[in-house]
Amino acid sequence: MTKAYQLATILAQAGIKSDDATGSLVAPIHLSTTYQHPEFGKSTGFDYTRTKNPTRSALEETLAKIEQAAYAIATSSGMSAVVLAFSVFAYGSKVVAARDLYGGSFRWFNNQESEGRFSVTYANTEEEMIAAIDESTDVVYVETPTNPLMVEFDIAKVAKVAHDKGAKVLVDNTFYSPVYQNPIPLGADIVIHSATKYLSGHNDVLAGVVITDNTELFETLMYHYNTTGPNLSPLDSYLLMRGLKTLKIRMEAVTKNAQELAVFLDNHVAVKEVLYTGKGGMISFKVKDKGKIPALLNSLKVISFAESLGGVESLMTYPATQTHADIPAEVRFSYGLSDNLLRLSVGIEDVEDLKADLEQALSK
Ligand SMILES: Cc1ncc(COP(=O)(O)O)c(C=O)c1O
Repeated sequence: MTKAYQLATILAQAGIKSDDATGSLVAPIHLSTTYQHPEFGKSTGFDYTRTKNPTRSALEETLAKIEQAAYAIATSSGMSAVVLAFSVFAYGSKVVAARDLYGGSFRWFNNQESEGRFSVTYANTEEEMIAAIDESTDVVYVETPTNPLMVEFDIAKVAKVAHDKGAKVLVDNTFYSPVYQNPIPLGADIVIHSATKYLSGHNDVLAGVVITDNTELFETLMYHYNTTGPNLSPLDSYLLMRGLKTLKIRMEAVTKNAQELAVFLDNHVAVKEVLYTGKGGMISFKVKDKGKIPALLNSLKVISFAESLGGVESLMTYPATQTHADIPAEVRFSYGLSDNLLRLSVGIEDVEDLKADLEQALSK
């Protein structure tokens, strides 16, 4: 699909002028679960809200455009987006996935493996991933940058190898958002997001999205969506649309703050290592003394000690006991997710306040 307008324009105008009946500029929140038929055998295009809802459709139109794809399906959470995306792959499918991935996705992969639904081969690096893809591979699953070690994978390179072997590519684009990365033009077959994070941006919506440019995949996804009902509600669809309008300026603001904080942390005597790619708002860092982590987290004042990421408020997460707690310690340690690692989701506060907060917390 050709991109008609620049990203900032598409975002700012999310959902507007979608209601011809009234001319309402902002997309209305359509709460009705059902729609009256004009006459027998005729439909307005909307029959029942699990299948299609006008507020959700307005949102999905924007979500597809910003990922330069033809189709988007808004779901009730990032995890329901992951599960929906995998519904297109047959029982017994073989998956190759990056080892460093969101703990909830790992937990679900484990569960699926234990039930024999599919098998997963994990790769620590891009090279290992490419070497692991063969003719028996059905799906390659990439979260880039990885979570929380912030390693970038080359989507175009992985997609080329996967397609040559007949596999499909799924990318979780939650961390970079379409502001910094569009996986579909790079070769991904399906993109998912936890829209709870940057897309909505205010820590007040739980949502997900599945995006594809492939009509056949879209039809299969819609069959499963309509059958199992992991829908985003009209109110949350509206809130997500509202959050999207400022996505670009929020991403630019968090990047500016994060670039400065990465340098600050890198120069700090209590910090051993900083993991930051140079764009986006996610920074992981390892402290020299892991025994000081409880005092550090307890003393934060501006930054909140909380799970999640991608909002305007800065959050600090301890992956070992929070987001990645379901990954056994020996597995985590084997790929570098150590107990001295903290993850910072940088918000849009004044960077001097964030620095001062980190300074006082790191000196505890
Ligand atoms: C990269 C990534 N993917 C998926 C998810 C799952 O999303 P949700 O919490 O919206 O279900 C998360 C949640 O933290 C995440 O960080």
